[in-house]
Amino acid sequence: MHNPQLNRDGELIHLLSIEGLPKAILTQILDTAASFMEVSSREVKKVPLLRGKSVFNLFFENSTRTRTTFEIAAKRLSADVINLDINKSSTAKGETLLDTIDNLCAMDANLFVVRHASSGAPYLIADHLRRIGRNDIHVVNAGDGRHAHPTQGLLDMYTIRHYKQDFTQLRVAIVGDILHSRVARSDIHALTTLGVPEVRAIGPETLLPKHLDKLGVQVFHDMEEGLKDCDVVIMLRLQNERMNGALLPSAGEYFRHYGLTPQKLALAKPDAVVMHPGPMNRGVEIHSAVADGPQAVILPQVTFGIAVRMAVMSIVAGNS
Ligand code: CP
Repeated sequence: MHNPQLNRDGELIHLLSIEGLPKAILTQILDTAASFMEVSSREVKKVPLLRGKSVFNLFFENSTRTRTTFEIAAKRLSADVINLDINKSSTAKGETLLDTIDNLCAMDANLFVVRHASSGAPYLIADHLRRIGRNDIHVVNAGDGRHAHPTQGLLDMYTIRHYKQDFTQLRVAIVGDILHSRVARSDIHALTTLGVPEVRAIGPETLLPKHLDKLGVQVFHDMEEGLKDCDVVIMLRLQNERMNGALLPSAGEYFRHYGLTPQKLALAKPDAVVMHPGPMNRGVEIHSAVADGPQAVILPQVTFGIAVRMAVMSIVAGNS
C-alpha cells in the first residue's frame, strides 16, 4: 500500500507517523539532527536551508515544548515563521480546516506544522494538498489526538541514542497512560523499528491498549517487576483530558502504584536514564526527586527536539 509520507523514490515528503517508516529514514533523521546539534553549539546557529520558505505553525491544541521548538528550529533554518493564533483565526467563526489550508496556500505556505485534537487531521491536510496538486507543500504532524507524535518519538530516539549508543542492547520501559498517549505509540514504533529487543509497557489494565503484544511489547501491571534491569524509563503523563469516565481510583492511588520514586527507580539498571515528554505532573506520575535527579534527561530531550525538528523540516522540504 502507498505510504502518503513518501514520494515515488521512497523519500520523506511529509512526516505524519513513525509507523510504516523504514529504519533508514529514522536513522537519516537522527544523523541529520546530530549535525544540527553541532551547528547549535556555534555562536551563529543559523543555516540557510529554508531561506525564502514560509513555515506555518497551526496548533489547534495547547503546547509549550513542541510549538516553541518548531518555531526555533524553523528560524534556525532561516525560514519565515507564521504562528497562526487559532483562537483569533476564522476557524473560531466556523471556517473548515481545509478552507483555512487553502487560504494559507494562497499566502505561499511551504510547510505546515499541525497539532490537532482529531487523530488523522495532518493526513487529511496532506491528502488535500496531493488532490489539489500542491506536492511542493509539506506537512509535519506535531501531535494528532491519540494517534501519533512523530517528532516527539524521534527526539526520544535521539535522546536514547545519545545516552546509550546502541539500540540493539536495550531494555526500555514505557510507564503509565499508554492508552491515551500518542507519544507512547510513536515511541513503540520507533523503538521496534530501530531494533530495541525488549520494549516493556507498564501500567494498570485500564490504561493499556489491548494487543500491545502484536506490536512486540511486553506488558507489566506490576511496576516493580517491569522496571527490573531497564536501561531507559519513559514516564508518561496521565492524560486526564482524553479520559472518558473513571479509569483510575485517584491520583494518590495511581502515584502509589505507578509513580516513579527513587526507590522504584533503583530497580532499573544503575545507569538507567529517565525520560518524560512533558508536561509533567509532579507527585502524580513522577516524584520531584526523580524528575530533578541525576538520572533524569528530561530537559536535554527538549534541547535535542530543536535539532530533530530542524532535521525533519529540512529533509521534507528538500524532497517533492
Ligand atoms: N511533549 C509535548 O508534546 O509537549 P507540549 O504539549 O508542551 O508540546
